[in-house]
Amino acid sequence: MSTATDLCPASLADMTMADPAVNACPYAYYAGLHAEAPVHYDARMGLWLVTRHADVVEACRNWEVFSSHIDMRRDVSTVNPAESDQLFLREGWLVADVLSQVDPPRHTMFRRMVERLFTGPVVKRMHAYLDEHVLELIAGFEQRGSADFLGEFALLLPLDVIADQLGLPRSDGALLRRWSDAFITSFDPTITAARKLECARTILEFQRYFVAWRTRKTEQPGDDLLSMLVAARRDDGAPLATEEYLALCAQLMVAGSETTRNHLLAMMLMLCDDQALQQRLRAEPMQVPRFVEESLRLEAPAQGLYRRCTRSFALGGVVIPEGAIVMVMFGAANRDPLAFPDPGDLDLARPNSNRHLAFGYGIHSCIGRTLATEELNLAVRRLLERLGTIRLASDHPRPTHLFHFNMRALSSMPIEFEVLPRPTGDSQTPA
Ligand code: HEM
Repeated sequence: MSTATDLCPASLADMTMADPAVNACPYAYYAGLHAEAPVHYDARMGLWLVTRHADVVEACRNWEVFSSHIDMRRDVSTVNPAESDQLFLREGWLVADVLSQVDPPRHTMFRRMVERLFTGPVVKRMHAYLDEHVLELIAGFEQRGSADFLGEFALLLPLDVIADQLGLPRSDGALLRRWSDAFITSFDPTITAARKLECARTILEFQRYFVAWRTRKTEQPGDDLLSMLVAARRDDGAPLATEEYLALCAQLMVAGSETTRNHLLAMMLMLCDDQALQQRLRAEPMQVPRFVEESLRLEAPAQGLYRRCTRSFALGGVVIPEGAIVMVMFGAANRDPLAFPDPGDLDLARPNSNRHLAFGYGIHSCIGRTLATEELNLAVRRLLERLGTIRLASDHPRPTHLFHFNMRALSSMPIEFEVLPRPTGDSQTPA
């Protein structure tokens, strides 16, 4: 059995996802890891990276060894959380571990509380509503020939949908975005102490808002996620504690908006960069679902997520010690040449594209997969139908990736396109 340092050549040992250059385009790094050190210890971050498809599947399947129960504040961040914890204790609630951060039986209990609103039949019933909203957003810019695709579409679609599902006014979308960003940033292992405290102050705003809505939903329940959480009972028959309610709201808000937004941007960049692909998808819209799956494989919005090794375990021929923090690298697994030949190619005929791990795998796999896939498919289909020849705006710099340790997010997406005649019978007027 080898140790990670035996396997890792010097150049790889010096590289890390925390390096902005590697982070901006990590795929050569992943290819190096696949070839030389598929289970790799990143000494700078104190993290084990698991990069092969088969190993990521094994780790996600074996939740008893690769636990999701991690104290994100202490195990992952290098910043001492004492100051922000005191702020939460004084003015709000400590951030509780729920759903994606716990193991069974607690995980099963929380998942049961929310999964009802994300099943295939429920999403199927949402089809007309989602399609209508996609068209409404496109109508806001389709006659203009240019758009801020981030601000006018990618940001709004998932935020509006999650606001509707939670039972909150769409007009509060800007607040939800601000709070989602604060959660994401506060879990970044490269965060500074000052930024962490700033995030904690923003999270307190989120807590006050959602506690106020809990009171409203208790008095006037609806058919929405917040009302379901208010009515939910734990396995011991008790209602959710305030900390648990808030943490579930936070996970749904963040997961429901950030990843979908980032992937809408990633897909738009792929389409702008490949006019032949655009033409093909316009001519053969039935290929759009294949494009969506391939794009998720190539540019997984969550490149990796954390696990904690509960006991020393040999994975991919390398022993990971007990207590180690592991990152299951979905983005790397999706480009594993053993699972996907020519992994960097976007191949609409790839027979196994949907075996990608962009939505995770196992008990924690994405609860919103069907919903997100429906949003992404409808968006691509309608955008290509309503906008001709889409390109990156010529008078703006090319969009770049924002630095985030394990998320993939583009900074902006100004586009230009050919204005097409409105389909007959369409009465929508542009905003
Ligand atoms: C393109 C869009 C999306 C991507 C790429 C994505 C990705 C992921 C991934 C990788 C996980 C696995 C976490 C793990 O293994 O620890 C996950 C879990 C989760 N996702 Fe998504 N997601 C997306 C959209 C959504 C949407 C729209 C929702 C709905 C609100 C959602 C809600 C959740 C929740 C609640 C979990 C935690 C599940 C659990 O721990 O049992 N996601 N997602």
